[in-house]
Amino acid sequence: MPGDLELPIPYGRQWIDEDDINAVIETLRGDWITQGPKVEEFEKSLAEYVGVKYAVVFNSGTSALHAAYFAAGVGEGDEVITSPITFVATANAAVMLGARVVFADIDMKTYCLDAEEVEKKITHRTRVVAPVSFAGYPVDLRPFLDLKEKYGFIIVEDAAHALGAIRNGKKVGAEADMTIFSFHPVKHITTGEGGVVVTNSEIFCEKLKLFRTHGITKSEEKLTRYDGPWYYEQHVLGYNYRITDFQCTLGLSQLRKLERFVERRNEIAKRYNEAFSEIDNLITPPKVAEEGWRHAYHIYPLLLNGLERKSFFFKLRERKILPQVHYIPVHLQPFYQERFGYREGDFPNAEDYYKREVTIPLFPRMSDAQVEYVINTVIEIASEG
Ligand SMILES: Cc1ncc(COP(=O)(O)O)c(C=O)c1O
Repeated sequence: MPGDLELPIPYGRQWIDEDDINAVIETLRGDWITQGPKVEEFEKSLAEYVGVKYAVVFNSGTSALHAAYFAAGVGEGDEVITSPITFVATANAAVMLGARVVFADIDMKTYCLDAEEVEKKITHRTRVVAPVSFAGYPVDLRPFLDLKEKYGFIIVEDAAHALGAIRNGKKVGAEADMTIFSFHPVKHITTGEGGVVVTNSEIFCEKLKLFRTHGITKSEEKLTRYDGPWYYEQHVLGYNYRITDFQCTLGLSQLRKLERFVERRNEIAKRYNEAFSEIDNLITPPKVAEEGWRHAYHIYPLLLNGLERKSFFFKLRERKILPQVHYIPVHLQPFYQERFGYREGDFPNAEDYYKREVTIPLFPRMSDAQVEYVINTVIEIASEG
């Protein structure tokens, strides 16, 4: 890492190099800029990386979620249970299909959905439970798999934050019925905008592909009749959720660097953990077990203990560190309060977490000088009280 201190320091950003740019240019010069071979090539590489049979790429993580809920059969009157500490997209994608979003509180040991709270919310209408591997922490799926066995719903893991995370020796993406990842620029790899659903189910895979292209099929065995080579049929209501070939080329090039990116994220987080663990008014993020687990550290959520969040946030900004807050609990959004009647006080852990959280910079391209600057500045501000 270069040693010079570049300011300001954003909370996250992409790392695009000449390799990526040259690869994209080559695709742009070719015959296919969309619906071409790079799409399948990217899908194959992603499936291989995660260790699953199928990957279906989309033009965003949000459309990937929408498609995954569709493939799970979510419709009018169904319920989707998820965490209030997530980006609104996790919940919105269920509303798009006419479902009711049921929140369950988070576990303060992980900041992820608490399986015991989920069990209290399960009804005969529960179609999907969507745990979020928040901040890159790979949520333990075992209790959710047990609940699935007992009640029979589908697990869609929102792993937008967790590409490259490992739990129990397996990559995140290998255990849930379907898992989504996002390729937004602050994520582990980027395609500008983009996302993917990974799964071992051929049935889900087919539904995902149908949904991605207007609900249209050309597959002969599915057609009700056959008029000629031009013929296709629309069987369900789908969308144009396709991603381009030049984006997939960028994704392929980025995927080759993923291990290095995730390792660097872990290296920075380790420095932060060491530096902040002795500071009384700072709480470092949940850690994973050493053996067989790996955090993906999409973000570094620092919790303040007795410090005023707003003033901490502005003091960082004055010193050219650009923090964020992840997230405003989704049940507190006016839309969710109006649509489903949620109120302040409904999810005490999520609300307590939100009031105390500040996301400090963490991205693979951060220089050591930037990391040290963030550490020194955070400690200085924390000691001001
Ligand atoms: C947890 C989570 N889920 C879903 C999404 C949606 O992904 P995208 O921005 O690619 O649509 C995001 C994006 O930030 C996210 O953080």
